[in-house]
Amino acid sequence: MSKYTSLRGFKDILPDEIGRWRWAESIAHETFATFGFSQIRTPILETTELFTRSIGEATDIVEKEMYTFKDWDGKNVTLRPEGTAPVVRAYLEHHLGAQTPLWKLYYTGPMFRHERPQAGRLRQFHQIGAEVIGDIDPRQDVELLSLLTRFFERTQVTDLTLEINSLGCPVCRPDYRAALQAYFEKYLPELCDDCQRRFKTNPLRILDCKKEGCKAIAKNAPSPIDHLCAECREHFKAVREGLDQLAIPYEVQPHLVRGLDYYTKTAFEMTTRKLGAQNAVAAGGRYDGLIEALGGPPTPAIGFAVGMERLVQLIDPALVPASRLQLFLAPLGKAAGAALFPILLALRRKNIRSEMGSENVGLKSQMKRADRLGAEHVLIVGENEIAQGKAILRNMATKAQEEIPLSTLAETLSEKLS
Ligand code: HAM
Repeated sequence: MSKYTSLRGFKDILPDEIGRWRWAESIAHETFATFGFSQIRTPILETTELFTRSIGEATDIVEKEMYTFKDWDGKNVTLRPEGTAPVVRAYLEHHLGAQTPLWKLYYTGPMFRHERPQAGRLRQFHQIGAEVIGDIDPRQDVELLSLLTRFFERTQVTDLTLEINSLGCPVCRPDYRAALQAYFEKYLPELCDDCQRRFKTNPLRILDCKKEGCKAIAKNAPSPIDHLCAECREHFKAVREGLDQLAIPYEVQPHLVRGLDYYTKTAFEMTTRKLGAQNAVAAGGRYDGLIEALGGPPTPAIGFAVGMERLVQLIDPALVPASRLQLFLAPLGKAAGAALFPILLALRRKNIRSEMGSENVGLKSQMKRADRLGAEHVLIVGENEIAQGKAILRNMATKAQEEIPLSTLAETLSEKLS
């Protein structure tokens, strides 16, 4: 092994896994297109302030997880920990709102958070995310959740639970925050150090603490649902009715909160029991105040992101069509190599997935490589075959062999295989 290894929490995705990634991505491209979304690609590096302003100063991500450094010109820059703020930045920078009032955008790519690595939690991870910018109607929430549900349906990942909640808005949030503080104040000395700090800076985050002591106290804390203003209450009701109409199953989880501060009204997570502690495969919600907070006009929005690593773990590998080699050419000796090389190139021009072994190694090791590549057929040409003007084509599944004249090899193979 080399003395160099990948960094903790940074993972190689090896050829054996890549089929599931590409399959999930292709389903995402198709499903998002079906729902009227366009793809957007934003840079991985952004100004630090974009994230501190949008995710919130008193969040774990901003307080201790961002990969932030000074660029050579002294500017504070950050490897994006999430995709929503960059999409909003691009939306504002390119005046997309002036072109048309509603944008449905999606993205895929790596995100970076300096979290404690564990199963399902990495420091570089990948998301497929969707953002709908410009619509306040609860039907948009329902439509987005139907997209999320449809996406998982197509990947055939089952046993998922859609948990939803409403986090209120700037009108009702202060009331809820006060109620929450009044509740936790009684238990302040029993809360963990982090939560004692959160009590002042961000009491909603206490509801998400994983420590047993804090969890037990938080169990009976008030829910934002009981403090919603009339508008938020109506919105939440309409979302639930819309989901009911579409027969999309969900559970109201009155203590669901999110690790990012920009959320308003609807918040949700898609969870599974198959992944242990890191049980959210996707999460999102409304962020009606973010665009204005970043300097734009008041513009409602909603979105979600799917965690790719977690999704890929849940995908049944048997569903993924293998990208197999159609033909492996196995030359034995110099003359055979010289005869087969032009054939290999001709077959590739016909888009036949083909590869050739080295004429300098024996048949056994060439067959091993053909197997590794999943070759459907192997063509064997040795000195005898050259002398007799023929090649042997072996079907790797049935083991049946046939002889093909060398003079018409390229034509016969491309006819047989295309
Ligand atoms: P998030 O809940 O921070 O939301 O992340 C969304 C999903 O990304 C999680 O549910 C999880 O599957 C995956 N994820 C997050 N952190 C890690 C990690 N360290 N390792 C592996 N997977 C991870 C957001 O990022 C929001 N931008 C979602 C959104 C879009 N809200 C509105 N629009």
